[in-house]
Amino acid sequence: MSLFNVYPLFDITPVKAADVFVYDKNGTEYLDLYGGHAVISIGHSHPTYVQNIRKQLSDLGFYSNSIQNPLQEALAKELTQQSNCNNYQLFLCNSGAEANENALKLASFHTNKKKILSFSNSFHGRTSAAVAATDNTKIVAPINAQQEVEFCDLGDLTTVEKALQKGDVCAVIIECIQGVGGLDESTTSFYQDLAELCKKYQAILIADEVQSGFGRTGDFFAFQKHGVQPDIISMAKGMGNGFPIGGILIHPSIKASYGLLGTTFGGNHLACAASLSVLEVLQQEKLLANATRISEYFKKKAAAIPQIKNIKGRGLMLGLEFDFPIATLRKDLIYKQHLFTGSAKNPNLLRILPPLTLKEQHVDFFFKGLKTELNKQQ
Ligand SMILES: Cc1ncc(COP(=O)(O)O)c(C=O)c1O
Repeated sequence: MSLFNVYPLFDITPVKAADVFVYDKNGTEYLDLYGGHAVISIGHSHPTYVQNIRKQLSDLGFYSNSIQNPLQEALAKELTQQSNCNNYQLFLCNSGAEANENALKLASFHTNKKKILSFSNSFHGRTSAAVAATDNTKIVAPINAQQEVEFCDLGDLTTVEKALQKGDVCAVIIECIQGVGGLDESTTSFYQDLAELCKKYQAILIADEVQSGFGRTGDFFAFQKHGVQPDIISMAKGMGNGFPIGGILIHPSIKASYGLLGTTFGGNHLACAASLSVLEVLQQEKLLANATRISEYFKKKAAAIPQIKNIKGRGLMLGLEFDFPIATLRKDLIYKQHLFTGSAKNPNLLRILPPLTLKEQHVDFFFKGLKTELNKQQ
């Protein structure tokens, strides 16, 4: 049987990882500035994480959502404390797309409307409503195209209000700082006005924090920089440090009822143990502050390289923009300098999404390798 060939693969086979490093089957060490696509938050195979998951597995790996699960309660409590999102309700699922799918569905239940408003260059996942709200027609199948979605440009409030005025929009979904799209972010006044417009026209504001959440930008959630209060916040990637878990935080104005949402695997014991370990380490090692500090160091070093035309993003959700496509550079960084980095929809943007444990010496190592490859191009 062959694998369904949907991923272009680098010819590297990782077999082990520790903190910010990944090791392939030949024992070669790679510095991971990609974090398996912004997933690794507290570092690969963190000892606390490994120990807690191992213990949980030996006690109880899984039971369904038909019994009491104190780990879900503990996760909700710890999430409230660290995120300062007080009084929100937590619903757990398994991935980013699923988190957004549930968020959109809940918005539709709550408002009894069905149109979604989304933004150019957005990415929200590959399930039905989430993919329809994603600005990439190549991944939207005819079955998904039945969703009603209108796209606006990020920052364009006039078009947003025109769309909302029709009164049929159930949800506005937004990545406060765009991930795959290329790290664009609008102004604080845009996000605040957007939240006001959602209230005015009774549309649910969904902050997609799947990539930016759990401290990646230096704030627990990226929207917090702008002082807005979304109705629903979706989370995944960094939440489990590689263990599949997603979730939504739901404002208390949205009421639950039995059967409204549901999942078999969501919120299982192992996933909760993983996410609780992430929160424990984020706090113990002060990783949000580290993300902010190392980000400044990284940006300073990037500013000294003339080939870099623009430095985008914040915290450890960064992008280096060049005036040429970075595909070959990215390959050379991996194969010749043993540096994992990411790409974006913008072909000139090299993305940097490392574990939040990154230190100055790792940044120095990256720039040494980057400069070597850039100098070869001259
Ligand atoms: C902002 C954002 N939302 C949603 C998703 C979808 O998450 P998943 O791949 O876990 O379904 C992603 C994945 O890259 C993402 O970056």
